Amino acid sequence: MGRATAANQCEGGYDQGGRGLANVDITPHGKNRFPVMLGTDHSLEFHEGEFYPAKEAIDFYSHYKEDIQLFGEMGFKTYRMSLAWSRIYPNGDELEPNEEGLRFYEDVFKECHKYGIEPLVTITHFDCPIHLIKEYGGWKNRKLIEFYERLCRTIFTRYKGLVKYWLTFNEINMILHLPFMGAGLLIEDKETALKDKYQAIHHELVASALATKIAHEIDPDNKVGCMLAAGNTYPYTCNPNDVWKSIQSDREGYFFIDVQARGYYPNYALKQMKREETMPIMEEGDQALLKEHTVDFISFSYYSSRCTSADPKMNKQTEGNVFATLKNPYLQASEWGWQIDPLGLRITLNSIYDRYQKPLFIVENGLGAKDELVNDTVIDDYRIDYMREHVKAMKDAIDIDGVDLIGYTSWGCIDLVSASTGEMSKRYGFIYVDRDDQGNGTMKRYKKKSFDWYKKVIATNGEDI
Ligand code: BG6
Repeated sequence: MGRATAANQCEGGYDQGGRGLANVDITPHGKNRFPVMLGTDHSLEFHEGEFYPAKEAIDFYSHYKEDIQLFGEMGFKTYRMSLAWSRIYPNGDELEPNEEGLRFYEDVFKECHKYGIEPLVTITHFDCPIHLIKEYGGWKNRKLIEFYERLCRTIFTRYKGLVKYWLTFNEINMILHLPFMGAGLLIEDKETALKDKYQAIHHELVASALATKIAHEIDPDNKVGCMLAAGNTYPYTCNPNDVWKSIQSDREGYFFIDVQARGYYPNYALKQMKREETMPIMEEGDQALLKEHTVDFISFSYYSSRCTSADPKMNKQTEGNVFATLKNPYLQASEWGWQIDPLGLRITLNSIYDRYQKPLFIVENGLGAKDELVNDTVIDDYRIDYMREHVKAMKDAIDIDGVDLIGYTSWGCIDLVSASTGEMSKRYGFIYVDRDDQGNGTMKRYKKKSFDWYKKVIATNGEDI
């Protein structure tokens, strides 16, 4: 048990230690954020008057010792974090890595071990060096596999003995929704956009299998997982058309995991790509690689279930983890409209386990909420309630249903920049950071009420909640 962060949302230090620029750095807060994440804004640079939250984020780059000490105090067994590719290979295509970047992560991992915390490392979390986008067009170019392979060889070798658990791509299915974030893709032509996405997806899937192969070769103790933005889709009614639509909607995400966990493209995807003329170019050897190097475990994020209807008149939507969804009348929602469904977590765990029969790891889950700092703390009972119900659902999945769940790192041990909105005010942490949406504040850290609550949950392995 522990919690999770991503480099682009907490690290900052965007121009320090020889780091190169990345897609996430030039993604602003505010109304221009979505066009950049979608890949429809092609400027690839900073603009006067815009605020770029990832540049400093919460400055984990300078505060990591203090932050990890607090994670240690909470009793974390695991800390999920990601690497900034451009800190290790500033342009992405160099032959030699940046020693200062490598050393930074080495220090972070050593610091974790000091407190008995096992790092779980996401190799890319919505992160791609700008140079690879400008020069090669991001993941639609097969060259990216070679650069990613070099990155993997470097980190698996350097961090052997320090890191055992790896995730290849964060929320790999996000590429269909936010192609610039997921794959450094710029959408040039609506006609070919889907074909480009599937080509980029194929390259990421091959790169993921290659990473799994290399990780096992370098250290047989390494365990590699895939990562899905999950949450089962419910049919709005028992009308078979709604049920069919919900199956199709879930397959959109399962497709990735089908390849990563089973080792081949499922028939429904092959048929669809043929029909839509989006079949990617595959090279000889790709299929054998996918088949032979499937993942050791399946990780996923879960914030909510989704809901869909085949009836075009049913259009009352609400926000969700990027995917908009129909409003489910049985569920409450967060201040950002994300619906709250703890039983949906148990349903999702069971569906994924039934499908793949591999160990599962929940690597994100949590409540984004507005917090008020009063007398140096936040009384966040709403967050504790959310977490408690989800931990209960998880326990039921293990104790009653027999799901093989190996870990739980919920989102944001410490407040960080929101991926979808760029806000600081959408807070997930058990540690409050004094920083606002415009980048004002002291960066000082404060323990929230949930800090002690989670400490107790970890100490009792979820028995005392
Ligand atoms: C997931 C991402 O989509 O959800 C995280 O992997 C993200 O990076 C998290 O922060 C919560 O989303 P948001 O938009 O509330 O930050």
